[in-house]
Amino acid sequence: MNFVGSHILSVSQFDRDAVEQIFRVADRMAPYALKQRVTRVLEGAILGNMFFEPSTRTRVSFGCAFNLLGGEVRETTEIKASAIAKGESFYDTARVLSGYSDVIVMRHEREGSVAEFSEASRVPVLNGGDGANEHPSQALLDLYTIRKEMEAQGKDMEHLRIALIGDLKNGRAVHSLCKLLTLYSDVHFTLVSPTELRLPGDYIEQMRSAGHKVVETDQLLSSIAHADILYVTRTQEERFSDAAEAEKYKGLFRLNQSIYTEFCEPNTVIMHPLPRDSRAEASELDNDMNENPNLAIFRQTDNGVIIRMALFALILDIVDQVDQHAREVNWFTAKRF
Ligand code: NCD
Repeated sequence: MNFVGSHILSVSQFDRDAVEQIFRVADRMAPYALKQRVTRVLEGAILGNMFFEPSTRTRVSFGCAFNLLGGEVRETTEIKASAIAKGESFYDTARVLSGYSDVIVMRHEREGSVAEFSEASRVPVLNGGDGANEHPSQALLDLYTIRKEMEAQGKDMEHLRIALIGDLKNGRAVHSLCKLLTLYSDVHFTLVSPTELRLPGDYIEQMRSAGHKVVETDQLLSSIAHADILYVTRTQEERFSDAAEAEKYKGLFRLNQSIYTEFCEPNTVIMHPLPRDSRAEASELDNDMNENPNLAIFRQTDNGVIIRMALFALILDIVDQVDQHAREVNWFTAKRF
């Protein structure tokens, strides 16, 4: 795949080689993300970071990734703070903002919105999440994390056993991750959700027709015993037209340390795209797991910066220049672990 100048809208754009290429570049970005080295390769470049839906880690890590490459970030964080609230079309907004930026990241509540925006943009656009549809950079960082966690246990990605838990109907992180995982061989998917929030059928068909095993269930405890990865998700309450309806599903599947100890294999890795809903009625991933060394959620968020740096480096065609513009860090850096 030629990344230079391209929009990143869906993980369907990637084949296995493209994913491996992103991961190789990501490995090269790690010293910069870990503050061992500084590079100014994108000095003078501007990222338009447009988040029309709430976001903490995706927005900030895209921004940090661009800053770490030496570029500057301009942010729009709410529809009401943009002229879209005055009736401006995506077309006009995209024409205008792409005149101010070298690359744009966009998140919006409507499926297909980022693709529509990209058609009018004069610069590459990256999908930071479009409604319940897709979240490509999240799936890449999740897959990168899975690979690293499996490597650390001396396992590879083939024959992976993953249980995805929660609101699989509305979770865009799950949608993109399932598509990416189909690129590997013989994945065993266990999909744990309430019947009403099952993974849409077209994803399941795609997974099955690529030869993977897919089991659907609404039982948590009997499903987590033989998994390498448990990928827990939040009920996507913002996707429900009726808030009371979303409440019905909160707290149905809760993972905590005593359940983990009783039902999981010893080194089962726990992941979550975050945010985890820590309110008492939800609490799908309990804080009592925070000291569990197999809890990979903050390794995921750290990897998010590395993956997003890699995407910028590939799209803006600076992969081989990053090290040429580098120097050692000259300030105190806390130990990062
Ligand atoms: C996810 C999202 O926004 O889709 N979060 C994220 O970007 N890390 C998942 C979620 O909000 O539950």
